[in-house]
Amino acid sequence: MHSILATASLLTAVLALPAPQMSYEGNLGNSGPVGGVNPTAVAPTATAASGSLYGSEALLGEVAQPSPVQGGDSAKVSNYQLVNGQDADATLGLYLDFNSVPNPQPFRGDAGQTDPGPRTYEYEKINSDIFAPPGTDSGSVPQAMWPLGLSHNRLGSGKDSGWARQQNKDNLPSATAMAGVDMRLAPGAYRELHWHTANEWSLVLKGSVRLSAVNENGETFLDDISAGDVWFFPAGVPHSIQALDEGTEFLLVFDNGDFNEDSTFLASELFLRNPKSVLSKDLQTPISSFDHLPTDQLYIFNGTPAPANISEQNVTSPYGQLPINESYTYHFSQQEPYVVPGGSVKIVDPTTFPIASHFSAALVTVQPGAMREIHWHTTSDEWNYFLAGSARITVFVAPSSSQTFDYTAGDVGYIPAASSHYIENTGTEDVVFLEVLQAPKFTDISVAQWLALTPSQIVKDTLGLPDDAIAGLPKQKTYIKPGNTNLTALAGGGSAY
Ligand SMILES: *[C@@H]1O[C@H](CO)[C@@H](O)[C@H](O)[C@H]1NC(C)=O
Ligand SMILES: *[C@@H]1O[C@H](CO)[C@@H](O)[C@H](O)[C@H]1NC(C)=O
Ligand SMILES: *[C@@H]1O[C@H](CO)[C@@H](O)[C@H](O)[C@H]1NC(C)=O
Ligand SMILES: *[C@@H]1O[C@H](CO)[C@@H](O)[C@H](O)[C@H]1NC(C)=O
Repeated sequence: MHSILATASLLTAVLALPAPQMSYEGNLGNSGPVGGVNPTAVAPTATAASGSLYGSEALLGEVAQPSPVQGGDSAKVSNYQLVNGQDADATLGLYLDFNSVPNPQPFRGDAGQTDPGPRTYEYEKINSDIFAPPGTDSGSVPQAMWPLGLSHNRLGSGKDSGWARQQNKDNLPSATAMAGVDMRLAPGAYRELHWHTANEWSLVLKGSVRLSAVNENGETFLDDISAGDVWFFPAGVPHSIQALDEGTEFLLVFDNGDFNEDSTFLASELFLRNPKSVLSKDLQTPISSFDHLPTDQLYIFNGTPAPANISEQNVTSPYGQLPINESYTYHFSQQEPYVVPGGSVKIVDPTTFPIASHFSAALVTVQPGAMREIHWHTTSDEWNYFLAGSARITVFVAPSSSQTFDYTAGDVGYIPAASSHYIENTGTEDVVFLEVLQAPKFTDISVAQWLALTPSQIVKDTLGLPDDAIAGLPKQKTYIKPGNTNLTALAGGGSAY
């Protein structure tokens, strides 16, 4: 009787699941102006093999019949439009919004020419400074942008677990000092108990997590944090991450460009890779205790939801808790931003979060038209992540190279130490981004402040700036400069602010 009831309820549960879609038919494709692939190739159709794989030697140049100069697949492009600012002086370098036309063309001022294809418009629309660079771009600069949307996504095991994708030197070779991971955990899902050789700094992007760790002194750490908060786990310190009620997505930054999220030390692997007799001796427990070890690593997997009351998971250590000045979390979401015209800035570095002794970060919001001012970091490379909006960066590398890169939400940026750069909002909404340095304090050299605090005669002799421009330079560092979104005014020689 009992088993019949159990079977019946199992059947009900199965029937309640959404029916799998068994009729998939063909994909509809994405042809046409929205899909943006040009030209639409039409493959010759044949029901059986016909034609020839190779041609004859009579097609070699000097003996072959002439090919037609006209009437073939023409390189002419006649039907296109320029976007706002595209025919303005190339050294103005106005941001070109290629989304306003169906088939953007690489012109900038008087330079450039049409692109007959083959091409995929979407890349060019979101990377207009790559396709039609400002006239001031020059030489070659290491690739400074990686979209996480192009990173392989590793899906967690089982149902409702999560995923992770990473950026490291494999996909951004210049990024030697830092690497990043974007991770998603469903409600109750874990990033398995683990440790690694790099130091780990994290910003929670969405939702909330429970973190636990034990350090080399036997001191314990347990905390819940939410979107906008940060954590830090020192190299080698084992920790676990479990998503709370609404799940989570977070960003990890490691202080090693070679970091590989697939190569961390996992608790499950440690138990799978040691003899059971040794495990039995180590934990002083019968060998049968290991009958139910997982058969493979867990990595990201769903588990028992964490109790809402965090105190229920508080383990009392004879060595106590991690001292407060060594806390692994900083509730950064509760820090008020420093507001300036054009946006706001929040800094978290070892000044207030000492355990992360060389991770210094700024979370910056820049309004449309405004920009994070031209600056550089004296000794550290900069790792960026874009949380919202769109922006561009020109990276200047000594002696005479510069290149402009475009970014949208989910992209990583990487800027070498001492290379000047700005981050300009190119969209109609706020752009929000993270700057992470390997430095004991978040610092930068502001170009505007540097010139303001240099004897004016030196500035005038070097750059030929007018006296009133030099006199007007602000001596305070503002981080952000407000700006004008009106391209017509800019193109007409008006001011950019
Ligand atoms: C854990 O227990 C310690 C005392 O052993 C206490 O100081 C601490 O506040 C507790 N933490 C939580 C999250 O309950
Ligand atoms: C949370 O758990 C702790 C430890 O079990 C208990 O002392 C405390 O009363 C609980 N708090 C609430 C609000 O239930
Ligand atoms: C925390 O304070 C202790 C005692 O003053 C000190 O030894 C330790 O270095 C501090 N830790 C950090 C990360 O500043
Ligand atoms: C943009 O600038 C031009 C030239 O200064 C001006 O005529 C126009 O009114 C401005 N547009 C807006 C929306 O302010």
